[in-house]
Order: sequence, then structure tokens, then C-alpha cells
Amino acid sequence: MTSLTALSIASELFPLIKTGGLADVAGALPTALRAHDVAVTSLLPGYPAVLGGIEDPRQVHDFHDLFGGTARLLSARCGELDLLVLDAPHLYVRPGNPYLGPDGKDWPDNGLRFAALAQVGARIGQGLLPHYAPDVLHAHDWQTGLLPAYLKYSGRPGPKTVFTIHNLAFQGRFPYELLAKLGLPQRAFSLDGIEYYGGIGYLKAGLQLADRITTVSPTYAAEIQGSEAGMGLDGLLRLRGGRLSGILNGIDTDVWNPANDALIAATYDVESIAARARNKKALQARFGLKPEPGALLYGVISRLSWQKGLDLLLEALPQLAGGGAQLALLGAGDAELEQAYGAAARKYPGQIGAVIGYDEALAHQIQAGADALLVPSRFEPCGLTQLCALRYGAVPVVARVGGLADTVVDANEMATATGVATGVQFAPVTTDALIKAFGKTRALFADVVAWRNLQINGMTTDVSWKNPAQHYAKLYRDLVAER
Ligand code: ADP
Ligand code: GLC
Repeated sequence: MTSLTALSIASELFPLIKTGGLADVAGALPTALRAHDVAVTSLLPGYPAVLGGIEDPRQVHDFHDLFGGTARLLSARCGELDLLVLDAPHLYVRPGNPYLGPDGKDWPDNGLRFAALAQVGARIGQGLLPHYAPDVLHAHDWQTGLLPAYLKYSGRPGPKTVFTIHNLAFQGRFPYELLAKLGLPQRAFSLDGIEYYGGIGYLKAGLQLADRITTVSPTYAAEIQGSEAGMGLDGLLRLRGGRLSGILNGIDTDVWNPANDALIAATYDVESIAARARNKKALQARFGLKPEPGALLYGVISRLSWQKGLDLLLEALPQLAGGGAQLALLGAGDAELEQAYGAAARKYPGQIGAVIGYDEALAHQIQAGADALLVPSRFEPCGLTQLCALRYGAVPVVARVGGLADTVVDANEMATATGVATGVQFAPVTTDALIKAFGKTRALFADVVAWRNLQINGMTTDVSWKNPAQHYAKLYRDLVAER
């Protein structure tokens, strides 16, 4: 096996900066690829949290003017990760999260902020740094969608590109007027370039121009080529279907390991699942729920958004509570949903608890203490919380869409008879179907042996990056062989 180098470009990376699963993927895949002789360096923006969290920073390049200010590239490390940090204070040193200001609105210059990231990624591919020539550029989501455009329209050769869709809903659309500031020629503004419905589409550009497109599950790869899930891009995705594939995400099984998780009340493994009872008790206390060991306790860990179907769960709460179950929800996002869950917790004291916010430790405690983890998403490219749930013996109850369909084996008759079920799937994604899933879950929970089997099957499922990394490594090697 020849060794290979890849530059991964993403706008988030765990543990330095995270708003969702993209950060988990960007932070874990590089390490997993090492076993396949692929050396990955990760390029990311120098937000305050990143500049404050990196080790051994060393300047390797400076820019006199990068989209309106001076900037530098720092080579640095974070644990085992090799990083290149784009330190451009005028673009990235701000309060708030990577995309939104403290007022909750998109930064008005997001178009330029992420064009800079994409352009620098392309230039590194073209030899900006002496002694570093990556074989492959792997760009993630709309923030890096212009990268293949910068390669193509510069007229200089560069490495092959992989573009990964983590979420088609975020498309990075900007007005035509931005073109003059992007450093791309006028001819880039065409149907087979970056033009998208009269404006500029960053995600569209990536889909149009990358050598290979991947998304994070086979089912989502198929779904987005249809009009229902294609979000206006299904035509282009069908056109490029031969270049599109789905590779499931994994999770970092060191970060998510119930056998030595310092964030939970009691550690356990598949031989000592009964020890979960202590975590359940602690979780009930944390969420102000009645300390009933026998109540079916559902957990939710989620962004509160339309995608995640949590409005459907709200509608189904009377049935959840009526059936004697409990709910511990951790989430942040849409103000309306945040308020509604706060109100639900007041309406059903002792039975429904909600913590509004982002809390890494609490996410672990929910996985370790909840009996079941609910993921009622309307669409889900992959989803990571159900993978963590499998590993922690929280039985996933999920909508049959995208990566949820690919990672949870529904406890239907056949799967139960053959002993391979790991959770419950429901379809269609409606309140009624969700309520039916509560009934099915309740029946399974009442059957101690059946439930334990679901837990054991889940906990022994390989949810690591081992298999996915192998697929990415093969993809990279196939691409390099094409050159
Ligand atoms: P998405 O990226 O669409 O938000 P994923 O399931 O792929 O969904 O990834 C979400 C990640 O963010 C998981 O690691 C999950 O544990 C974490 N997460 C989501 N919401 C919260 C929260 N409120 N507090 C802590 N972690 C959260
Ligand atoms: C996105 C998707 C989620 C996926 C994550 C990482 O945020 O919504 O399904 O798991 O990216 O790929």
C-alpha cells in the first residue's frame, strides 16, 4: 500500500469548535485514516476557540491581503491531529458561533469568510507551502464548496477533489454581486460553474465541480437524487450520480466509551449492563424526573430544528406521558421549540424534563442513563446520536430516513426471530407513526429478555470509524490512480 496525503478542509473540528456532527467527523476521520496509510492534515478557520486550543503553533505562510485583511497560516497540533489554521482575525476573530453573531443572525460577510477558507485550501493544493503537496483535497459542506471552483478557474493544476455533503439543507447561497469580491473570473458564473438560480451557490459549486461527491449514508445518497429530499439540487445530483456515493459515518469510540467514560456516574460494558441503573437514577435526578427505576426513560440530544422532527415529538408528548414514560431532552436551536419544551416540562413535572443549551457532558449522561434514544428526524444525512446510543446500550427509536435507516436494525418479526434487531424504526415521519412507535417500544421494554437483547446487539455493533475509513481510503486511492 503506497502512503497518501490528504488535506481535509472543514469549518468545524472537534474538540476545538463544534456546532454539529460535521465537527465530530472532521475531528475523527483523520485519525482513523492513519491505519490505511493516509496522512491527513486539517485546514480550519482560526476562530478564538481554535487559536486558544491549539498546540505548538508555527507560522508557515503570511498573506498581505486575504479578502480585506492580513492573515497567516499556522501549522499546529491538537492531540493527534495535524492542523493548518487560517488565522485571519478580520474574518474569524469574533464572538458567537462560527456562522452566527450573538444576535443569532448569519454574519453578513459569511460569503467572504468561507470563500477565503476554500481559496486557501485550493492554493495549498497547488503548492502554496513548500514541502507539502497533498494527493487529495477533501472538502466538507457548503463552506468549502468553492474550493474546486478556485482550482478549476485558476488554470493551474491541482490535486483531485472529494466533496462531502453533510447536509443538503445548508446551501450557502449568495447574491451575484459577491462575484466581484471572490477572485473568480466572470466565466465562473455559469450553469456548469458556480451560478445557482441567478445567484452564487457554494454547495452547488462543490457538487458541480468536485471529482467525487460523497454523502454520509447510502440511503441519503439515494434520497437526495429524488425531488422530495433533493432540495432543488436533485437534478444536478442525478446528473453526477456516477460520481456520488454514500459512506456511513462512525463515531470516535474512545470519546464515546461507556467502559471508561469519566463523564458518567457509573461505567459499564456489555457484561455489566445492569450498572446502567445508576446512570438512569442520576439522569432522573438531573432532569427532575420521578426516581422510578421501571419507567421507560427516553432521551433526546439534538439541535432543535425542523430537520429533527421535534415538533412532531411535542405533539406526541401527551401519549408519551400517558403511557407512563419519561423524557429527558437536551437541545438548543429554534426559539419556539426551546420555549415549547420548557413549557412541556412545566406541564408534566416529574415526567418530562428539558435542558435548553449545549452540554457535552450531559449528552454522555443521557446516552448512559436513558433506556431509549429518540431521533424522529424528517431527514437525516447520517446522524451520530443513534450511533452513540447503540454503543451505550440506549435503544435507538428512529425515523426510517437517511442514515437512521442504515444504522438501526428495526425490531420487526424477522429481525427479532433471528436475533439481530438493535432498535425501533418508524415510518412515515408523522406524529401518528411516532405514537405507534411508543407502543412498540413500550412492549419491547416490558419484555426484559427482548430488551436486553436489543441492548447487547447495539453495544456489540461496530460503530467505529474502522469500516468508513477503509471506504474513504479506497476512494482517495482510486482518485489518485486516475491522474
Ligand atoms: P447534526 O450534525 O445534524 O446536528 P448529528 O447527530 O450528526 O446531527 O450530530 C450531532 C452531534 O452534536 C452529536 O455529537 C451530538 O451528541 C451533539 N449534540 C447535539 N445537540 C447537542 C446539545 N444540545 N448538547 C450537546 N451535544 C449536542
Ligand atoms: C449533518 C447531518 C447529520 C450528520 C452530520 C455529520 O449535520 O445533519 O445527519 O451526521 O452532518 O456528517
